[in-house]
Amino acid sequence: MPLTQPTFAQTDTATPLTIVPEDTCADWLASLDAPAQKWAEASGFAGKIGQALVVPDMDGGVQMAAVGYGTEADRKRARFHVAAALPRLPAGIYAFHSDLDAETLETEALGWLLSSYRFDRYAEQSPSRVQLVAPEGIDAPRIEIIAAGEALTRDLINTPASDMGPPDLEAAARELAEEFSASIDVTTGDDLLTVNFPMIHAVGRAADRAPRLIDMRWGDAGPKLTLVGKGVCFDTGGLNLKPGASMGLMKKDMGGSAAVLGLARMIMALGLPLQLRVLIPAVENSVSSNAFRPQDILTSRKGLTVEINNTDAEGRLVLADALALADEDTPDLIVSMATLTGAARVAVGPDLAPYYVDDLQLVTALEQAAASVADPVWRMPFHTPYEPMIEPGIADLDNAPKGGFAGSITAALFLRRFVTKTPRYMHFDIYGWQPSDAPARPKGGVGQGTRALLAALPTALKL
Ligand code: BES
Ligand code: ZN
Ligand code: ZN
Repeated sequence: MPLTQPTFAQTDTATPLTIVPEDTCADWLASLDAPAQKWAEASGFAGKIGQALVVPDMDGGVQMAAVGYGTEADRKRARFHVAAALPRLPAGIYAFHSDLDAETLETEALGWLLSSYRFDRYAEQSPSRVQLVAPEGIDAPRIEIIAAGEALTRDLINTPASDMGPPDLEAAARELAEEFSASIDVTTGDDLLTVNFPMIHAVGRAADRAPRLIDMRWGDAGPKLTLVGKGVCFDTGGLNLKPGASMGLMKKDMGGSAAVLGLARMIMALGLPLQLRVLIPAVENSVSSNAFRPQDILTSRKGLTVEINNTDAEGRLVLADALALADEDTPDLIVSMATLTGAARVAVGPDLAPYYVDDLQLVTALEQAAASVADPVWRMPFHTPYEPMIEPGIADLDNAPKGGFAGSITAALFLRRFVTKTPRYMHFDIYGWQPSDAPARPKGGVGQGTRALLAALPTALKL
């Protein structure tokens, strides 16, 4: 799948674009010449977020332009404030004029690149009308790499299950591995039983497109980081079939794998000094006479037995076998990302990435990083006293505790049972979908937590 890579424009003749905070807007307007002032006043430009001002020159071209930056309070209500005004700027190439600090300009520049994302695989989309010259003092190649990683995540999620089944997800991983000379190994179909991934096989066996485990490795020195992503290419719910309304968006149930592949792309393109492993159990949760059933008891790779009380709680099953493998070589850090529960969506909504981790240093590193890259996360508890909820008695574990109390927490606790040797384990229960257009995030698939994680890695892994 060709990846459109968002890049900065290169020109010496860009239109200057002033970023104007609301509280200094009056002063800024007063500094303009009289005709420009009059024009700005007539246009109602007040420096509010989403406002754009364009001052024409004598030839009808654009002499200069401005976007509002709002008040501090308004800026807290949203992210990517410059991007919010892009629909109101005329076509052209712009260059920021601003005394905002480099970190802020970097985030705003990233928002601009992320706004230019288009999903054009099935229908032509009009390309972005506005381009940005990389602001001085920012790490432009890094921002382009981050935007390209995010574009990959979005493309993978947006592609419907008809073209993004387990074989296609494998192909996407192979393409990425090839681009960065990573090694990749894939175990498919009944071979999953031979090499002991029984739960990945059980969940995926009902589908025509065979289940598989994708195992990619890159880098040969430095701390070991293993990313595990839920790759349920479509989640019908299985025999516990989802009602139509709940099934409607389930092409995005491989959002965790899309996120870890996007993050892996960022890590490899930046050449971070670490040993990366990416594990993706890729399956379709389908309905067929050979589908796994409620009350089946599966023996996992780790040996723990699991009673199936809902075939729709399939993500934790495929992840459990992948996590057990990840844990076998005790990396420095395991991170799983998954569209795991509807409960997470109910708890925090589509904008926040809920995550679980016991290590408080990692919490600090991630929270600081998240704030600096406009990728909000929210810590949830691995609440050990809830462990009995996932213990059915008849088997070691229950995949779908009755009552549904703390659904995201019990799912996270379930996963944690499969990581017993690795010192640090972090899990994200993401939504992976932007429900309506927002600045830098058009409606559709979206990465969550990836930019925050990337920014946290130097501290987290002492790179
Ligand atoms: N893929 C879903 C979770 C999901 C649903 C994520 C909607 C985002 C939006 C997952 O496989 C699932 O169906 N989980 C069940 C678990 C339950 C049966 C214990 C859920 O959350 O309802
Ligand atoms: Zn499900
Ligand atoms: Zn699912």
